[in-house]
Amino acid sequence: MLKMINVTKAFGGVVATNDFSADFEPGSLSAIIGPNGAGKTTLFNLITGKLKPDSGSIMFNGEEIAGLSPRAIVKRGIGRAFQVASIFPTFTVAQALEGAVLAHRSKMSDLLRPFSQPSSRQRAEELMEMLGMTSRAGTLSSHLSHGDQKLLDIGLALALEPRLLLLDEPTAGMGPEERLQMIERVHFLWQREKITIIFIEHDMDIVFARAQMIRVLYYGALLAEGTPDQIRTNQKVIDAYLGHGFADDEVTA
Ligand SMILES: Nc1ncnc2c1ncn2[C@@H]1O[C@H](COP(=O)(O)OP(=O)(O)O)[C@@H](O)[C@H]1O
Ligand SMILES: [Mg+2]
Repeated sequence: MLKMINVTKAFGGVVATNDFSADFEPGSLSAIIGPNGAGKTTLFNLITGKLKPDSGSIMFNGEEIAGLSPRAIVKRGIGRAFQVASIFPTFTVAQALEGAVLAHRSKMSDLLRPFSQPSSRQRAEELMEMLGMTSRAGTLSSHLSHGDQKLLDIGLALALEPRLLLLDEPTAGMGPEERLQMIERVHFLWQREKITIIFIEHDMDIVFARAQMIRVLYYGALLAEGTPDQIRTNQKVIDAYLGHGFADDEVTA
């Protein structure tokens, strides 16, 4: 579905993305981890068209998307959660979601629409239910808790019907309990919507619990990729990032 081939992006002397290649499976829930400044957000900026790679190829469903505008890339089905909730401070949760559904549909060709599509209000209600936000339908987005704002951001991204959803640290600024709830919610949305999700995350427990595939970035390059068990016991990852005491006794060099 998403295939990155030898992608490189430098800012002056800083190589933020260094010859990065990866093949993201359709329908997967995968994570990207790595220390601060490793190039995780840059990777998302390249995929969504905010940045153009210096070299390399980014294929989405068999089509080259490197260098396309962000708008053209959203149209092809790649969504990302922005801090959009703060853009609509005077909208309620229900209004913001319905507005996003409407805005998206007005841009789509009628031919691409399924016949039995729910109304935009129905879809907004469905999204609120999926997000667990039905009780906050009438709350102004500026009055939401930090966690609920993050959820609304994800809902607004889902309103655009992405096939691939990118989440850059959806649990940022949350306590341990709230982090767990957020990632369970992301997992639920992933199952329910049957889309591909890539998330960036710092909390290793969360990554190991819910990602099917993990990719570790280190100075812009792919240090390792694999299942949670493979990453947990990968010596390169342990040395570079996880440190000691993380992979207990199962470590094999
Ligand atoms: N627009 C930019 N201009 C200059 N340098 C940037 C820009 N974006 C990112 N960088 C640099 O690229 C490196 C990777 O940054 P980033 O992708 O934000 O890392 P991460 O998300 O893993 O913390 C950092 O050294 C950062 O300072
Ligand atoms: Mg980042």
